[in-house]
Amino acid sequence: MNHLIAPSILSADFNNLSKDIQLINESEADWFHVDVMDGVFVPNISFGFPILKHVKLLSQKPLDVHLMIVEPDRYLEEFAKCGADTITVHLEACNHIHRTLQKIRSLGIKAGVAINPGTPINQLEDILHDADMFLLMSVNPGFGGQKFIPHTTQKVWALKRLLVQHQSKAIIEVDGGVDENNILELIEAGADVFVAGSSVFNKPSPLLAIQQLKNAKN
Ligand code: DX5
Ligand code: ZN
Repeated sequence: MNHLIAPSILSADFNNLSKDIQLINESEADWFHVDVMDGVFVPNISFGFPILKHVKLLSQKPLDVHLMIVEPDRYLEEFAKCGADTITVHLEACNHIHRTLQKIRSLGIKAGVAINPGTPINQLEDILHDADMFLLMSVNPGFGGQKFIPHTTQKVWALKRLLVQHQSKAIIEVDGGVDENNILELIEAGADVFVAGSSVFNKPSPLLAIQQLKNAKN
């Protein structure tokens, strides 16, 4: 598949969120990436349901909701009501990941599983068919604007191999420090979706930055 770009709202201008949402609507971006942080699973707090509802109201593209929270099961219905199209939970935050994925799918939403940089991909082996997407964190979650961890590229290669071997249709998303310098090697390794926060919103022209990431080709 052609790769997808998911600009992260975390790096948008919160003084004028509507303007940045409009910008993404008019861009070549494919999804809105929405980072929910609880200050427990990660050392930062971002935003919750009211902001998500606002984004949903204005956005013309699917909402890719990344939950960096403990006990995500408690809130899945509420995130579904807010209009999430994909809900990604962290493997490290779930005691019963299989049940959580089933629950997300039962709500009619695509189910994603994220793993931190220190979590090996072999921990995904038994749920390859139970998720629609696997998100590989390429920074330690909690903050935008961090440096890409190069080892992630090898993890993408290995996960892609595993998915092919087991005939899983799940796609691979990479999140953290993705920019014009590393996107090509990640595409080559087999990644499908790229979250981009600072490499879009900290550029003079976010529109152009999205276009460049979207049109990156080997
Ligand atoms: C980090 C978040 C990311 C973040 C990416 O914990 O999950 O989605 O917004 O921002 P950049 O692209 O600046 O690393
Ligand atoms: Zn994220």
